[in-house]
Order: sequence, then C-alpha cells, then structure tokens
Amino acid sequence: MFQSVPIIRPITQDDLPKLLWSDQEKELSEFHQQLFEEAKLGKIFFMVADIDGNIAGRIRITPYTVDGNPWISGLQVKEDMRNKGIGTKLMEKAEAVLKLLGSTSVCLTVNIKNTDALRLYKKLGYTILSLGTQTWTYPKQGKQISVSEDVYFMMKKLE
Ligand SMILES: CC(C)(COP(=O)(O)OP(=O)(O)OC[C@H]1O[C@@H](n2cnc3c(N)ncnc32)[C@H](O)[C@@H]1OP(=O)(O)O)[C@@H](O)C(=O)NCCC(=O)NCCS
Repeated sequence: MFQSVPIIRPITQDDLPKLLWSDQEKELSEFHQQLFEEAKLGKIFFMVADIDGNIAGRIRITPYTVDGNPWISGLQVKEDMRNKGIGTKLMEKAEAVLKLLGSTSVCLTVNIKNTDALRLYKKLGYTILSLGTQTWTYPKQGKQISVSEDVYFMMKKLE
C-alpha cells in the first residue's frame, strides 16, 4: 500500500528502463524509445505515474490525427499497483491535457476481452461506438512486429 499521491508527468529518458516491469513491457522497450522520441518532437504526449520516483503506470495522448479525432492509448499500470486509482488518474490527466488543447472529444480502443479496462472506461464516461479490428506495429531488432486485435472503438465528449 503506497501512501504518496502519484504525480502524472511527462516521461523522461531516465524513466524508460523503469517501464520494463514485465515481459510484455520488455518486448516493447524499443517501442517505448520510439514513442519517447515522438514525444520530444511534440507529436504525442507520453505521461507516467510517478510515486516517489517509482514509475507505476503510463499513458499516451495523440492530440492531432489525420481523422481529426484526439486519441488516448497505451494505458498500462504495473500489476502490483492496480486497483489504487492510478489508471483513473492517468486517464483524468490525459483528458485534462486534451481539454487545455481545446479538444471536445476523445477516442480510444480496447480489446473486447479486456473487461477490466472496459469497465474503467465505461465508469469514466466512454461509450462504445463500434466493434472492429485494429492492427498496430512495434519495432523489435530491426523488424516491425504486427499485432491485430478485436477491439471496441470508444468515445467520450469532453466538457
Ligand atoms: C486497465 C488498468 C489500466 C486499470 O488501472 P488501475 O490503476 O487498476 O485502475 P483504477 O485503480 O483507477 O481502477 C480499477 C479499479 O480499482 C478501484 N479503485 C480505485 N481506487 C481504489 C482504491 N483507492 N482502493 C480500492 N479500489 C480502488 C476502481 O474503482 C476500479 O474498480 P472496478 O474494477 O471494480 O471498477 C490496469 O488494469 C492495467 O494496466 N491493465 C493491463 C493493461 C491494459 O489492459 N490497459 C488498457 C489497454 S486499452
């Protein structure tokens, strides 16, 4: 049980090794570095939940997209830190950033089998727009690994 309140802040280079808390995160280490570079260029926001210097979670915000819809993606909380409100805080911060930028809505996707995340998003006011397949890629040792998932597309109006 942690006592300190998590601070949601932009990721730094020093944080990147602290994200490797599981085999899945280690698999994505080059992707994290790529996203960090995109964040430095201002293309995305890449935020972390910092609890006394320990990184407990991450989230990404893409304010400007080709289709005009801002997106939230990459929400992840370290397994032993879940169910303490950190995921909610990361989402609230992402929405606050988008509101400051003038966004009036935000979209995200969630794997249809991911009941924990789906429950969180519904609780935060997201509604399902449609069901579809999403393909995303990440770099690993000079190759692009492709992942396809059945997802719900969700949306929330930002007031
Ligand atoms: C989905 C995920 C990000 C949620 O993160 P989290 O930090 O556990 O989220 P929260 O703590 O804000 O909310 C989770 C639950 O804890 C509860 N909770 C929040 N604060 C709490 C507290 N202080 N004490 C007890 N319970 C608390 C919430 O009410 C919620 O309850 P519910 O599941 O019964 O609705 C996390 O499970 C995760 O990383 N999963 C794997 C990656 C993933 O699926 N990412 C989403 C991709 S779309």
